[in-house]
Amino acid sequence: MARKTPRILVTGAVGQIGSELTMALRKRYGNNNIVAAGHRKDPSLALRDSGPFDRIDVTDREQIEQVVTRHKINTIYHMAAILSAVGEEKPQLAWNVNMGGLYNVLEVAREYKITRVFLPSSIAVFGPETPRDCAPQETVLHPTTIYGVSKVAGELLGDYYCHRFGLDVRGLRYPGIISSETPPGGGTTDYAVEIFYEAIKHRRYTCFVREDTVLPMMYMPDCIKATIDLMESDLYCLKHHCNFNVAGMSFSAGELAAEIKKHLPEFICDYRPDFRQEIADSWPKSLDDRPAREEWGWKPSYDLASMATDMLKCLHARYEKGTLP
Ligand code: SER
Repeated sequence: MARKTPRILVTGAVGQIGSELTMALRKRYGNNNIVAAGHRKDPSLALRDSGPFDRIDVTDREQIEQVVTRHKINTIYHMAAILSAVGEEKPQLAWNVNMGGLYNVLEVAREYKITRVFLPSSIAVFGPETPRDCAPQETVLHPTTIYGVSKVAGELLGDYYCHRFGLDVRGLRYPGIISSETPPGGGTTDYAVEIFYEAIKHRRYTCFVREDTVLPMMYMPDCIKATIDLMESDLYCLKHHCNFNVAGMSFSAGELAAEIKKHLPEFICDYRPDFRQEIADSWPKSLDDRPAREEWGWKPSYDLASMATDMLKCLHARYEKGTLP
């Protein structure tokens, strides 16, 4: 049976993933069916002018309720979160936003009979005891960051709402996401985005993890595709719900710098690891994403070379136009 047109709320819509996800959903389902919600940061003109925009603090349940009822929302993509590095600086804030916000969204979804909810999880659910290569779907989850702790709890809470209340909640363990539109804020994998901006602007970058640090990464078009494909798949195909591993590519910081150098030979990268090194060292290098491939047909399109080519092209165009921050 065809689903009725989604009326979607995207929380965290001004963030790195939320901003591009909102525009992709607007293109797919119609601008006015997608309500973007941000908190403090102002939306870009494109985001603000292409459809409804509201301010929501997700730690305040009433604010979520009001937007859901006012816009007759039936689907929520809950992208608002505090990431790993800021989380270590402000653990209380990370818990309040990540857990309190998630609980509020799930409770509003239960009460107002929302048909589908997307909850992003992360490679941060893993910890030093997880196998570093090809981390399995089912494995030890002992994260060492408050962000990871909140993501493990979020996966479990989402699965609980599925089996206890019959709420259709789905989620992916995102790797580091690389994108050219909105810079990420406060994550450990941010170096893989910053390096491109600095290469374009100054031909130089000081990386905050060691050259040999390998982490799983994904380019934004694959991230958007994975998110929408999972949300559009038939419920009966899914054995997992809130915790799908999804792999894109894996490379070291040094390999990334070398790839950029192929395009910009004068580019120089040096390395000055800070507290984020320890976080990076607690995460796996690569992921086994067979359940995502088998249950809903996940397949990434970009590898390191094609991602770097496209990133440099997009950022160069923005630099020329004078719109690169
Ligand atoms: N990109 C996130 C971070 O680094 C991981 O999900 O915090």
